[in-house]
Amino acid sequence: MVPEPFEVLRRRQDTRDTWTLWLKSCDGRAVSFQPGQFMMISAGCAGEVPISISGDPDEPELLVHTVRAVGLATEALCSAKPGRILAGRGPFGGSWPVAELEGMDVVLAAGGIGLAPLRPAIVALLARREHYGRLVLLYGGRAPDQLLYGEELEAWAARRMEVHITVDSAGPEWLGHVGVVTRLIARAKVDGPATAALTCGPEVMMRFTVAGLRDTGVDPDQIYVSMERNMQCGIGHCGHCQFGPSLVCRDGPVYRWSEVEPWIGIREL
Ligand SMILES: Cc1cc2nc3c(=O)[nH]c(=O)nc-3n(C[C@H](O)[C@H](O)[C@H](O)COP(=O)(O)OP(=O)(O)OC[C@H]3O[C@@H](n4cnc5c(N)ncnc54)[C@H](O)[C@@H]3O)c2cc1C
Ligand code: FES
Repeated sequence: MVPEPFEVLRRRQDTRDTWTLWLKSCDGRAVSFQPGQFMMISAGCAGEVPISISGDPDEPELLVHTVRAVGLATEALCSAKPGRILAGRGPFGGSWPVAELEGMDVVLAAGGIGLAPLRPAIVALLARREHYGRLVLLYGGRAPDQLLYGEELEAWAARRMEVHITVDSAGPEWLGHVGVVTRLIARAKVDGPATAALTCGPEVMMRFTVAGLRDTGVDPDQIYVSMERNMQCGIGHCGHCQFGPSLVCRDGPVYRWSEVEPWIGIREL
């Protein structure tokens, strides 16, 4: 529960309201993590919030977070300049089952800031590219200027990841696809029975994406989603993040689809 100090080494503005921060432990601690895990992070007295680790699992000396400013705590994190000291606890939670997917095609479906929690999984999959079949990224944003990681998307495509991008709306200068992420499933010609899927984004996007993937024959037990709930302790003590019979901080945030299907979409949960 005791936060440790982390210094902001660098920050980059990704979109109008989203920044990526590179942090280093002031105590020299390497933060070993699994793709999909999160930290509880705070800047000053603005409040502590769960933020996924979006860096490279093979570079534990650097803690990387991509943060969208939506309220007090995330605005304070996004305005932290190099040299500022932040407080961090973690890593917490379970991970994307990257190693278990060897031999399969892997579809990664992300909506908006949902690409940040998937980034370490992409980096880990590409580090062992020859152990997987097709790697397909389906990524949707609200508008072209809301898309994350522009240069990396190109670099991933150059490393034999099939990158399909869509936006909800765009001006005439956008020559890419317009429409919801689920439309990309048909474009990507997903071979359902050979495929596992990792998906992260707004819950409605994840529900429709899962339905689209299941229509192609993907086994629901091979579909994983990352859930978000407001958190306080991050370690299964306070009950703040309860979701059905589970606690997202302890049992998630990554779940097999069949585990969450009975509850996802129920408003009160
Ligand atoms: C496991 C996990 C990983 C996350 N990873 C990231 C990440 O990598 N990058 C990132 O930018 N954000 C991430 N989030 C979301 C982030 O924690 C929230 O945006 C943050 O808690 C908002 O706090 P705030 O004080 O800035 O805003 P508040 O003032 O608390 O809220 C502002 C608005 O955001 C809504 N909101 C608050 N918390 C959440 C939440 N958890 N989910 C959905 N809506 C919420 C509120 O209802 C309100 O409308 C993650 C959340 C979880 C649970
Ligand atoms: S945040 Fe306290 S139990 Fe999950």
